[in-house]
Amino acid sequence: MIDPFGRRISYLRLSVTDRCDLRCAYCMAEDTEFLPKADVLDLEELARLSSVFIGLGVRKLRLTGGEPLVRRGIMQLIGALGEHVAAGRLAELTLTTNGTQLSRYAEGLARAGMRRINVSVDSLDPGLFHKITRRGDLALVLEGIRAAKAAGLAVKINTVVLGGVNDQEIDRLIAWCGEEGHDLSLIEAMPLGEFSTGPDFQALPLSVLRDQLARRWTLAATDYSSGGPARYVTVVETGRRLGFITPLSHGFCESCNRVRVSCTGRLFLCLGHEAGTDLRQPLRASASDAPVQEAIRRAIGLKPEGHDFVARRASHQPLARTMNHTGG
Ligand code: GTP
Ligand code: 5AD
Ligand code: SF4
Repeated sequence: MIDPFGRRISYLRLSVTDRCDLRCAYCMAEDTEFLPKADVLDLEELARLSSVFIGLGVRKLRLTGGEPLVRRGIMQLIGALGEHVAAGRLAELTLTTNGTQLSRYAEGLARAGMRRINVSVDSLDPGLFHKITRRGDLALVLEGIRAAKAAGLAVKINTVVLGGVNDQEIDRLIAWCGEEGHDLSLIEAMPLGEFSTGPDFQALPLSVLRDQLARRWTLAATDYSSGGPARYVTVVETGRRLGFITPLSHGFCESCNRVRVSCTGRLFLCLGHEAGTDLRQPLRASASDAPVQEAIRRAIGLKPEGHDFVARRASHQPLARTMNHTGG
């Protein structure tokens, strides 16, 4: 699949549920109402849709949410997707998780062919972690991360940097990731949903933070890429990679290789645009995959050049859609 800007689309981010056991302030409202079950693709539909995308050239598939591991029966889907890995049709199967269920699932994920996963940790201070996630237990997440490591999974930590909230925590996170052997990605908060109009939305340009970190750590250039939007350096003192995901201060859309599907089967061509196509209807209307393939091909032909988060932030017009529907 090649889009109008010549970009090859080979990475699918598939949201398997809008539900989550946490309520991170930048992701969803405290009183979020979840979607009715009938609107959400069932496990067979998710597996079938994944196969169609793989048939069209997707080589990397990341499960997201909400929290993917709170979806009932998720291991059944992961097992089915793992067969694509075993058969060489999929180069990478992975997920982004909040880590609360990892102790239970880590071994199964590794058995299904996952090699690395991303886990969100916005603070190593239990009180602050609880405040940001509105209900998270840091000890449980750290236990899950240890279980993932013990199962042989590489873990990358994701930290959304919120000015005045957790920006003083980053040195501690870098040091801890060094001790535990994890890479770390720092993420600029993106204006989605009502969060971006609230008092906690102090998105700190990571270019500023990077300069501050460079006074305390030796950041060596590397051309490593994980196939996502992060730009990496190596922290010489720890030997681990540090990634910067900078949708606001430094664009990365020119090398975009991905699309996302929401848990309702809506194909979004860019995280920062409403433009999308419903795949649920063709999926449910016919046992043949041809109409679904056709809908995907047509949509790829409409992929926008890039997001407009910068303009949205300046004009206080966040995307109405929240992260837990779209899957980041
Ligand atoms: P790897 O590079 O494979 O480790 O994954 P990733 O960093 O792309 O995925 P992850 O799910 O860990 O997402 C990290 C952050 O990157 C989240 O805040 C995502 O919303 C953001 N992100 C991923 N892809 C895009 C994108 O296409 N556009 C924008 N604006 N943000 C993205
Ligand atoms: N801006 C940036 N990143 C976000 N995430 C969730 N909401 C936002 C936002 N508004 C991150 C989570 C997780 C990943 C899937 O997306 O922290 O690591
Ligand atoms: Fe849940 Fe992840 Fe959203 Fe936090 S970012 S509320 S953990 S889906």
